[in-house]
Amino acid sequence: MAKSRSSYVCQNCGAITQRWQGRCESCGEWNTIIEEAAALGIGGAAARRGGAGRPFPLEDLSGASRPELRVATGIAELDRVAGGGFVPGSATLIGGEPGIGKSTLLIQACAAVARAGGRAIYVSGEESTAQVRLRAARLGLADAPVQLAAQTLVEDIVATLGSGDAPRFVVIDSIQTMWSDAIESAPGTVSQVRGSAQALIRFAKSSGAALLLVGHVTKDGQIAGPRVVEHMVDAVFSFEGDGAHAFRLLRAAKNRFGATDEVGVFEMTGAGLAEVPNPSALFLAGRDGRASPGAAVFAGVEGARPLLVEIQALVAPTTLGTPRRAVVGWEPSRLAMVLAVLESHGGLKLGQYDIYLNVAGGLKVAEPAADLAAAAALVSSLTGAALPHDAVYFGEIALSGSVRAVAHTGLRLKEAAKLGFTTAFAPAPPRAEGESARIGAKPIASVASLVALIAAAGVEAKSVPRAAERARGGVTN
Ligand code: TYD
Ligand code: MG
Repeated sequence: MAKSRSSYVCQNCGAITQRWQGRCESCGEWNTIIEEAAALGIGGAAARRGGAGRPFPLEDLSGASRPELRVATGIAELDRVAGGGFVPGSATLIGGEPGIGKSTLLIQACAAVARAGGRAIYVSGEESTAQVRLRAARLGLADAPVQLAAQTLVEDIVATLGSGDAPRFVVIDSIQTMWSDAIESAPGTVSQVRGSAQALIRFAKSSGAALLLVGHVTKDGQIAGPRVVEHMVDAVFSFEGDGAHAFRLLRAAKNRFGATDEVGVFEMTGAGLAEVPNPSALFLAGRDGRASPGAAVFAGVEGARPLLVEIQALVAPTTLGTPRRAVVGWEPSRLAMVLAVLESHGGLKLGQYDIYLNVAGGLKVAEPAADLAAAAALVSSLTGAALPHDAVYFGEIALSGSVRAVAHTGLRLKEAAKLGFTTAFAPAPPRAEGESARIGAKPIASVASLVALIAAAGVEAKSVPRAAERARGGVTN
């Protein structure tokens, strides 16, 4: 019989070593290795019983499978990310920073399922039932027949869930607080998280409940605990947002039952999370009524959803030896690249200027398609020429100074047209179809032509007041 031994497990990445080390060799983190009782390994339980495994009947691929009815929460933004509702028997892990609104979203989802007549259970390992109730009351959900518990012992939870009618929707908030009797390590350790997740997922698969696990994230945005939990579940969602702004994005990083390019947009309000069916309108809400230099509207795409945001630039003469480059919501390295291209192919001299770039509304833009909008905002601020108020920009800038085509052109144009924009500055003349035909396309082939276009518009705009001044005799030269 196998001797029970302990092993040393990194709490960051799950790597196992035979002796304690200060630094994990696999992920490089310090002081993350903790002694845990070793698992018996695959087949270990059978060996302990001293017998062979129990045979089970095999099925073939053509066999009748249960129709895939989904558990819809009625929160459209959440259901869409899940692929049209949650699949019964599936497990979903939702990660996000503390305070972003995971508990709020899930109590709202529970209440919606319960109101529709399904048995919905919310198990909190972090808050007392009184606290959960208090929040539900604030959200106006106090009358929803959600079943609550503040428990952390997985065996008890599984036994409770299994008694009575099969639940349709089960929320565990959070998986890091759960622990199992069968595992000797402290709650929150890799083996506890893994073991608890395993027990809960097994329950979901056998009962047909849709299981949602809340997961904490580490400081670099990864879901804490072993990566193996991400492999065990059917879907991994991340709930993101910027504490200073009210909007929240729900993205699928993995989804066995739907597309991973769906994005759900929510707004945190005094009455909980509200769905945002038209995010572009939210991000453009604070826009100045009139055109001002340094602002360009970027027709972006988040996942499969078009999203219009304003990119703001300020180019100001520097008073420092080394000019400042500050950027919020965009990659600093991307800004450095666009500036280098503007200098070498656009003929601009930016060495004597401080440069600030900001994506309005707190959104983080990762698409290379934002290059053209950022460049337009920068050139506009430098020349003092405002960009047309009803124009959008998108396109990737190559190091050669040319502007390259990007994906989802039709989607971007359609969204821009829907919001009343009339012109799109984009790489190649896009095929106009349907609603996008209503928007005029101005092809921009290179950074040089973008600079020329904006500068020419600036000269034109400046020459009008100058001509008027001259007419009054103010200018004599
Ligand atoms: P919470 O769901 O507790 O976050 P998480 O579970 O991800 O840690 O959300 C907490 C934040 O949400 C808190 O800072 C307050 C805010 N909030 C509102 O703005 N309005 C509301 O109606 C609720 C319930 C919370
Ligand atoms: Mg919470």
